[in-house]
Amino acid sequence: MSSTLANQPDLAPLQRFLARQEQIGLLRFLTCGSVDDGKSTLIGRLLYDTKLIFDDQLATLERDSVKHGTAGEHIDFALLVDGLEAEREQGITIDVAYRFFTTDRRRFIVADTPGHEQYTRNMATGASNAELAVVLVDARHGVLTQTRRHSFIVSLLGIRHVVLAVNKIDLVDFSEARFNEIRDDYARAVDGLGFTSLAAIPISARFGDNVIARSSRTPWYGGASLLQYLEGIDVDAAAAVRPFRMAVQWVNRPNLDFRGYSGTISAGTIRPGDRVTVAASGRSSTVARIVTMDGDLDRAGAGSAVTLTLADQIDISRGDVLAAPGAPVAVADKFEAHVVWLTEQNLFPGRSYIFKLGTRTVSGTITHIRHRIDVNTGAQVPADALGVNDVAAIGVSLIAPVAMERFADGRELGGFIIIDRLTNATVGVGMIEAITPGSTNIVWHDLAVDKQARAALKGQRPAALWFTGLSGAGKSTIANLVDHKLHALGHHTYILDGDNVRHGLNRDLGFSEADRVENIRRAAEAARLMVDAGLIVMVSFISPYRSDRDAARERFDAGEFIEVFVDTPIDECRRRDPKGLYARADAGQIRNFTGVDAPYEAPVAAELHLRTTEADPEVLADRVIEELRRRALIA
Ligand code: ADX
Repeated sequence: MSSTLANQPDLAPLQRFLARQEQIGLLRFLTCGSVDDGKSTLIGRLLYDTKLIFDDQLATLERDSVKHGTAGEHIDFALLVDGLEAEREQGITIDVAYRFFTTDRRRFIVADTPGHEQYTRNMATGASNAELAVVLVDARHGVLTQTRRHSFIVSLLGIRHVVLAVNKIDLVDFSEARFNEIRDDYARAVDGLGFTSLAAIPISARFGDNVIARSSRTPWYGGASLLQYLEGIDVDAAAAVRPFRMAVQWVNRPNLDFRGYSGTISAGTIRPGDRVTVAASGRSSTVARIVTMDGDLDRAGAGSAVTLTLADQIDISRGDVLAAPGAPVAVADKFEAHVVWLTEQNLFPGRSYIFKLGTRTVSGTITHIRHRIDVNTGAQVPADALGVNDVAAIGVSLIAPVAMERFADGRELGGFIIIDRLTNATVGVGMIEAITPGSTNIVWHDLAVDKQARAALKGQRPAALWFTGLSGAGKSTIANLVDHKLHALGHHTYILDGDNVRHGLNRDLGFSEADRVENIRRAAEAARLMVDAGLIVMVSFISPYRSDRDAARERFDAGEFIEVFVDTPIDECRRRDPKGLYARADAGQIRNFTGVDAPYEAPVAAELHLRTTEADPEVLADRVIEELRRRALIA
């Protein structure tokens, strides 16, 4: 027993260390610069000199420096952070690496983001929760296009504090004149980007000048070293004075006597007795207790994870936002935003995506691209689509209202990510610039005569039958037969057919991917109005993209949308070729022809799957009628 005790390590110093670390603030920053500016070397230097490199890492480092290093007999600090062998061999950094280090005064998390031209997206990822950016320039080269681009993205991502690290000052003979020139150039370049603090520091990451301590080799420089500056800067003065906000992450109900709302306070402070308002319902109550793992608090501020109990029983669920009553949070479904597009797959207006704002996830569409932004010059350029790494101003429309605020007023409720509904990949990050006035409590104008009333008068249940398939698959043929049969049964119907609608409503659209997205969006909206009028509408469009059909489906109430896959193999369509279009497409006379040089994404979960090679159109039309009966849409 006593020997077990004797073997226990003495935990007291560790506990003291952890306790002290808890007390001191955290600064998240990112570094940006181009490949050769010395970012990795600088981060390596910070980590090394703050003595938090583990011994075994150090041993590997010394070995690897001999193998790959570019710093002669000095340890190559870049090797500390450039994790991957492949990167080392290419001499570039290709992903975001987060590093942790600490001093007596502060803890730091640094995101090392790549400087390579095409990696805007990595930078956007690294910057998303940073409070400060260290922008590196090489003293020999000064402010480059990339420096401007990085600074622009930094400002777009809401970072208000910037340090300009003028690196390799040793290579310009510690010249004060050169330093001043670069500092002034940079100040001009970022004028108008809204930085609230900007400090320029002459450094040599390789030799350590002005990194940890002031250097005697720059006697003309009177400011702090980089680390001193980072230790001292006050970046969240603003968050504490902002009005109270907390998104409810979960409702904590261990037993019938306790109901608490758990989350992290994103802005402001709260005390028992303070009033809070629920953003969505506008209902208010008073905070009774602030519960934490270590007991109740009489005050909690931004950054604290707490559970609040309220004096009244009001309806609050996960995703709701609690706010100070004097500064309520908007609940809206439309906003204007800046986005950084992260994926090779183009963004097209009209397409449906999942938007994650705060703790809420909701479906929506990008309604328009206001303009693309040339990140090198800041110029606004017209655009129909966005490609990877593009930055743009866009409009977003969500299918349900959500608590939000402008990014400038708070990142937690003002920042969002865009998720592809099929792959679940994050395809964009955005910042809300303006909440669309009037979108805050839109009610679909409450007509006394509603859909039910209209449909009842016609003695039917309204529905949209969405026929999709290749050109020549037989969609229109089957839709027409179904129409006849429904009409004969006394139903009120209508047909929207790609070929016809393209002569009128969609006359302005061609067959590019962007135009097809819009074609389907309008078809879906038109169909929805018809369903709202109480009709059974047959929509017959190739509609080759799954996401667009899914977006169409979302415009309808449950059970109203029936997707009918008219499945005809392409060889059979080619053989039939009713309009001679396959022959022309094969001859290269028609471009973007579905199945030839444009894709068709077959449905994976259509309500009906009709194989036209197995039965003739009459039989297949009857099958549609049967399905409508089975779903009790018709008698
Ligand atoms: S969709 O892809 O946007 O849904 P839609 O159904 O409106 O297409 O129109 C398809 C019809 O347009 C085809 O049946 C064919 O008659 C005609 N068409 C002309 N050019 C093309 C093309 N490049 N690709 C597909 N259909 C085309």
